[in-house]
Amino acid sequence: MNKIYINPLPVRIWHWTNAAGFLLLIASGLQIRYLDLFQWVPFRTAVVAHNWIGFVLIGNFFVWLSFYLFSDKIKVYHPELNPMKYFQASFRQMRFYGYGVFKGDPNPHHASAYRKFNALQSMAYQIIMMLIVPLQFFTGVLLWDVARFSSMVEMFGGVRVVDTVHVVFFIFFTGFIFIHPYLASLSEKPWAHFKSMITGYEEVEDRRAHDASP
Ligand code: HEM
Repeated sequence: MNKIYINPLPVRIWHWTNAAGFLLLIASGLQIRYLDLFQWVPFRTAVVAHNWIGFVLIGNFFVWLSFYLFSDKIKVYHPELNPMKYFQASFRQMRFYGYGVFKGDPNPHHASAYRKFNALQSMAYQIIMMLIVPLQFFTGVLLWDVARFSSMVEMFGGVRVVDTVHVVFFIFFTGFIFIHPYLASLSEKPWAHFKSMITGYEEVEDRRAHDASP
């Protein structure tokens, strides 16, 4: 067994700040939206906390973005440009998640320093980080001060449209918070990816340690 450095410090700081923040945003969002069902803290506290945590996570997003924009680790997100190869890898991975995993088959993807994501992960994380997360932040900022951003709110179809987009993505993230850790646990050792998101290092077979170059 060998260790490879798979999750650099800025990614780990961003990730756990983001995960904790999202849990708090979901809890406070539940109270703001469904006040008759959830009353964890006084309503005003829930609103103020939701706004502050939102702004902290917007700043934190730029830690993630800057790290990848200014380091060669962006290669982990480079798309596979050969459609045949991409679909074959995606299909292999889907078959594992939907069937192989229940028979005890090994995960077909083997992480290495510059290929830490399987085909489905790299596509899903890019859509989440470059589209869904920014849209959630953007609609959140508009709803934070509807009067100040009234012209932009109108441009996007009015406050009901902006609010609906925000709530639809809130439902998406609530599901994601359960599914994402489950999928992350489907490696040879269930805790391997969680450990690597804490220490930065993942244990791999010897042959893969040599695949650590860009
Ligand atoms: C309880 C909450 C969470 C847990 C336990 C968790 C766990 C993990 C683990 C173990 C990994 C590394 C394995 C992998 O690559 O899949 C990971 C990566 C990742 N997670 Fe999470 N996560 C959580 C919340 C979130 C949230 C809320 C988001 C986004 C809104 C998120 C986005 C990501 C992304 C984009 C990566 C890849 C990071 C990179 O290297 O660029 N996670 N997560």
